[in-house]
Amino acid sequence: MLDIKVTKTDCPKQKPTDKDQLGFGKIFTDHMFVMEYDEGQGWHDPRIEPYHPFAMDPACVVLHYAQEIFEGMKAYRTADGSVQLFRPDCNAKRFQDSADRLCIPKIPTEDFVQAVREVVKVDEDWVPTFPDTSLYIRPFVFANDVGLGVHASKKYTFCIILSPSGAYYKEGLKPVRIYVEDEYIRAAPGLTGFAKCGGNYAASIKAGEQAEKIGYSQVLWLDGIEKKYVEEVGSMNIMFKIDGKIYTAATTGTVLPGVTRRSIIELLKDWGYEVVEGKLAIADVMKAGHEGKLEEVFGTGTAAVVSPVKELTWTGDTVQIGDGNIGPLTQKLYDTLTGIQWGRIEDTKGWTVKVQ
Ligand code: COI
Repeated sequence: MLDIKVTKTDCPKQKPTDKDQLGFGKIFTDHMFVMEYDEGQGWHDPRIEPYHPFAMDPACVVLHYAQEIFEGMKAYRTADGSVQLFRPDCNAKRFQDSADRLCIPKIPTEDFVQAVREVVKVDEDWVPTFPDTSLYIRPFVFANDVGLGVHASKKYTFCIILSPSGAYYKEGLKPVRIYVEDEYIRAAPGLTGFAKCGGNYAASIKAGEQAEKIGYSQVLWLDGIEKKYVEEVGSMNIMFKIDGKIYTAATTGTVLPGVTRRSIIELLKDWGYEVVEGKLAIADVMKAGHEGKLEEVFGTGTAAVVSPVKELTWTGDTVQIGDGNIGPLTQKLYDTLTGIQWGRIEDTKGWTVKVQ
């Protein structure tokens, strides 16, 4: 158990008064959690302190070699005014897997969850009450050694910042257009695709920017070897309902093992759907689209929640999905998942954890 020292701010910031002020990840709360790691000493000095910038040496390892990992989670305000987290132990576990891949010292699950709970508790008044909003939680670790040799750092900082947020996409729950990327790749076997590390996202930005310029919200990545099989979208996993069955890429190393992804798969199986986790060729998706068998497509992610897709374009070929509105299964998944998260539906799965 961490012995967390708490120092509260003397000058709290003005909280957003309107849902439209929120957006995603733009406003930050009054406090942050910080602790450091030094080789030989382990993680030390856990504390919650007023939100502040870091002073960094220009030769700091993370600035040059991107030795960094992060997580994305949310705290939800329920109708009775309490605040709850969603499966924080899953984020803790994934953080450890990412840490292992990036040679970063692991943080035990209990410490990770305790740190998240404590900092959310301190900034509890920042958990928004507007409909469909939450407090986005961003835990991250970065390498702090000073020097330009390419080695694992011997010093790290673990930090958690909090951001009251609304929908990730400006479209909200309205279906988005997705561009299937056929030039760049996001991951390949043996690389870091399964880890939540900044480097994966840095490498994805160019394709995302190009797609946005021509009117798409994000890109759908194909496998890095044959550019044939669907993997994931920029900020979410993706699922396809074809002829009644649900297909999604397996998490075998190149795809992020999403907490929302696994929760949605559990719900779908409970409801009797067959879920196929494996290789799905983009050519088969497009064919199903042209034959009217591509019933629904949706992304899943902490930030994106359950996000309907209305159009896919691959090498100049475009398919429209359904009638351009959110499909019934996508809507039911969104309602059920967010119902559990905001405490509107009884949590029979033990997924939610009260912060208080
Ligand atoms: C999340 O869904 O929490 C993510 O981390 C995606 C992010 C890159 C916006």
